[in-house]
Amino acid sequence: MHADPDTFSQLASAISGLHLQPPPENVLPSDTTVTQARGKLQATLSSSGVGFEETIRHIREDLAPGFNGSSRSPNYYGFVTGGSTPAAALADNLVTIYDQNAAVHLPQESIATNVEDSATSLLAQLLKLEPSQWPHRLFTTGATASNILGLACGREYAIAEASAHRSDTVSSVGELGIVEAMHRAGIDKIQILATVPHSSLVKAAGILGLGRASVLDVGLPNSSHKFDIPQLKKLLERPGAASIIAVSASEVNTGLFATSGLEEMQEIRKLADLYGAWIHVDGAFGIFGRILTSPAHSDIISFCAGLDLADSITGDGHKLLNVPYDCGFFFSRHRDIAERVFQNPNAPYLSTGAATDSLVSPSNVGLENSRRLRALPVYANLTAYGADGYRAMLERQIELSRGIAEYLIDSPDYELLPGSDRPKEEVLNGVYIIVLFRAKDEGLNKELTSRIKAGRKIYVSGTAWDGKPACRFAVSNWMTDAKRDLPIIKHVLTDVVEAWKKT
Ligand SMILES: Cc1ncc(COP(=O)(O)O)c(C=O)c1O
Repeated sequence: MHADPDTFSQLASAISGLHLQPPPENVLPSDTTVTQARGKLQATLSSSGVGFEETIRHIREDLAPGFNGSSRSPNYYGFVTGGSTPAAALADNLVTIYDQNAAVHLPQESIATNVEDSATSLLAQLLKLEPSQWPHRLFTTGATASNILGLACGREYAIAEASAHRSDTVSSVGELGIVEAMHRAGIDKIQILATVPHSSLVKAAGILGLGRASVLDVGLPNSSHKFDIPQLKKLLERPGAASIIAVSASEVNTGLFATSGLEEMQEIRKLADLYGAWIHVDGAFGIFGRILTSPAHSDIISFCAGLDLADSITGDGHKLLNVPYDCGFFFSRHRDIAERVFQNPNAPYLSTGAATDSLVSPSNVGLENSRRLRALPVYANLTAYGADGYRAMLERQIELSRGIAEYLIDSPDYELLPGSDRPKEEVLNGVYIIVLFRAKDEGLNKELTSRIKAGRKIYVSGTAWDGKPACRFAVSNWMTDAKRDLPIIKHVLTDVVEAWKKT
């Protein structure tokens, strides 16, 4: 297939035109617009179709007004939503045009799998992970899928480690099934030892037959995101148990990291090796803290130190990498484990053939057999902006988060969460890209999220903290600019309080 220069230039100018336009004035459409757009959805399949032109008009005029401005607005702070840079947007459209199935490594036929290998290698370098030590690297649909991969590999590894004490044959869950593999390994329990795990990790435990109840809290009583190391050791020692240790590198509600530095990770690694446990890091957005270098970010740098001692790492592309939905990534040190879990038996049509390099087919080490070339937008961004570009982007996001946190600490009407007696400077130094808060007035607090959203200028997610409603900012868009965005945020938060006081 030959690259068509017109395709590139038309797409590139359409996309840069879109990005040159100012972001939408409001982050949310009005209720009426949403209702109208929903009402225009086709309810009945037409027999002859309306044709290409009318379909384009329908999508542009009838449906698009009903979409929110999540990625296109730097003032959308819901969930953890990255945007899509111009380079990633162009590449993502090219992914569709070239429509490669990045499933089987066929080096004589397409470089699709090489693009994925190269993109994951550049990404590993960005995150200060030595690519050769992470030979199992894949793009996924998101952090949820990556957490499923992490627990699937951890399950395979921990049971094999337990069986190694009893015989020289490997008990493989992929081959024997979980019941038989556990029986042969002489274990009756698989436990996932975690502090404040993301819901998707618990969901992954349910999907994989480990059970949501297998996720055990090993957090400290007064600091629930931190590991209670003696308790961790006690649970690892349990006879008849195989273990996966799940490290939450920046929790979605608070942004807090489970580990505070290299020594703690070294201690956890030592325990894992002693008891044959697998360490999985959920660093959906927290793993990007490893990009930072400035003394202003020394706390975050030390929270991320030693995460490379894990066996597997989850990350998200559609968060801080600012590539479009959907894109996650997964890194593991153990490709042999992945080959035991994800192999496609009896499928000669999926074999790599005469490949002489060391790449494997993604379909044999990951979930899907057919896969989109998600790697290209990541490759494009890393090529376009480099390590310094990403560091500068994250620094701007942290600057805004800390500006919001400072405003909340100083405000008589709001409270930064979790509450702390520490000096303001210390608290601010620990702020990454998540800011959790509530209104001091209980009445306002109950309505806070909806009142902020009603203004449609900024978007925050509602959540709960200590049994009460709370709000959170997740600052993750590539366009973030503290000088422009902080005054908008302060204005909205001040207006909400003033309007409440008048009621
Ligand atoms: C720490 C963490 N893990 C996993 C996920 C799930 O990510 P995704 O929605 O991309 O599957 C999230 C989403 O916010 C997260 O913050």
